[in-house]
Amino acid sequence: MDIPWWRDAVVYEIYVRSFADASGDGVGDLVGVRERLPYLAQLGVDAIWLTPFYPSPMADGGYDVADYRGVDPLFGTLADFEALVADAHTHGMKVLVDIVPNHSSSRHPWFQEALAGRGRDRYVFRDEPNNWQSTFSGPAWTQVDDGQWYLHLFAPEQPDFNWRNPDVHEEFLDVLRFWLDRGVDGFRIDVAMGLYKAEGLPDVGDQSFMSVSPIWGQPEVHEVYRQWRKLLESYPGERMAVGEVWTDSAADLALYVRPDELHQSFNFAWLQAPWSPTAFKKVIDDTLSTVPFATWVLSNHDVVRHRTRYDTADPGTGLARAKAALLVMLALPGSAYLYQGEELGLPEVKDIPPEARQDPIFFQSKGTLPGRDGCRVPLPWSGDAAPFGFSPEGVDPWLPQPGTFAALTAEAQSGDSDSTLEFYRRALACRRDLVRSIPYHLEWMDSPEGALFFSRGSLTCVINCGPDPVPLPPYDHLIMSSGPITDDSLPPDTAAWLQA
Ligand code: GLC
Repeated sequence: MDIPWWRDAVVYEIYVRSFADASGDGVGDLVGVRERLPYLAQLGVDAIWLTPFYPSPMADGGYDVADYRGVDPLFGTLADFEALVADAHTHGMKVLVDIVPNHSSSRHPWFQEALAGRGRDRYVFRDEPNNWQSTFSGPAWTQVDDGQWYLHLFAPEQPDFNWRNPDVHEEFLDVLRFWLDRGVDGFRIDVAMGLYKAEGLPDVGDQSFMSVSPIWGQPEVHEVYRQWRKLLESYPGERMAVGEVWTDSAADLALYVRPDELHQSFNFAWLQAPWSPTAFKKVIDDTLSTVPFATWVLSNHDVVRHRTRYDTADPGTGLARAKAALLVMLALPGSAYLYQGEELGLPEVKDIPPEARQDPIFFQSKGTLPGRDGCRVPLPWSGDAAPFGFSPEGVDPWLPQPGTFAALTAEAQSGDSDSTLEFYRRALACRRDLVRSIPYHLEWMDSPEGALFFSRGSLTCVINCGPDPVPLPPYDHLIMSSGPITDDSLPPDTAAWLQA
């Protein structure tokens, strides 16, 4: 079998609002992305995933879609999108777009009709709510003027569709066709373990997330992905879909990537693993033994940036660990998803003032949860002060950027071989040279306490998670490392690629 492009792809997530603002309104846009494609090509990624840019009231940063077949004027026009896809392809990069099938915006025409009393069956309306809580905190139900309640597993502005209604199936098949016809190479499926809810909407005893519960992971959802797979395969080229599937076991995750369903699913177990060789080994073993095509992800627009996660667990280690984890991730079989700004070593911005916060989680939790703004702060491209080249001079970005970004701009790091950006460029270039010449299969090697060593053919990858240096295994030459190493020993919080 020919190896599909996505099997080993490095995919770069673009949170469009925060990537680059060409129009000068303080919000990132599609022209901004297009202008920065050379930067992404130089970084060495194989594909980009664009977060929602569809018409939206932006109650949840665009994950509240009012029209699935358009571009919000905030982000540009359909012509801008088409030009972006064409340019990305010229640069040899594939383009994935985000599809949000669990819910629409409350401004979607269907929901507006439902409020007026027509077509309520496309959403989940009931005379009485059950006890489900919203993922963003607070009740998952809102009452409308005539007394009925509608379900929203996220914000009240995000009513859940009723996937038991065939209209919803037809609509999404058509939406997928719309974007496939415009040349997209695939889709990232938002909340892919949602969509169906258990018949009768029974109360739940435990509100904490479970991958199979009356709220999530209903068996009927798999038929949706079987249909979508057929549609993707009816198009020329290797169109694909990757699911945002949160599960509590690799076995549950594997259900979504059966050969006739989604091509890939995010593997959040890697992102959730603590800094421990045993935890890493378990996640890797569980993943590789259950899913045919693995993926790995350390950060995205919903979680605290991994540099800061590691730093919080063990102050002072964040950047070293983030770089070491990247080298391991890039050496693992499968594909890797990067999140914009991790190549600059950006930390989570923790001190955004309450009046500047935007995430509905902050508001729905009445300020008890900070929400996700800290990982969504607009990227610093150049210069010594905000807006750091994100927006034109004099324009305030939609979230404030800290002054400490000055040392982290792409401009400041470019050409400095010690910088995080140049480290990412080297790692991605080495991976590109190597990845198709080594076997997919991974073999564990004897590893000293605190460390993890594995090989794929002639590539050996080593990481030291422990507090003391460990001896390196025999090797021919060093390909690269995440920090300084001596000939025969690997310092703490460091990873390396060795040619055996
Ligand atoms: C996904 C998105 C997240 C959004 C949620 C609701 O988890 O990644 O940003 O808030 O779905 O659409």
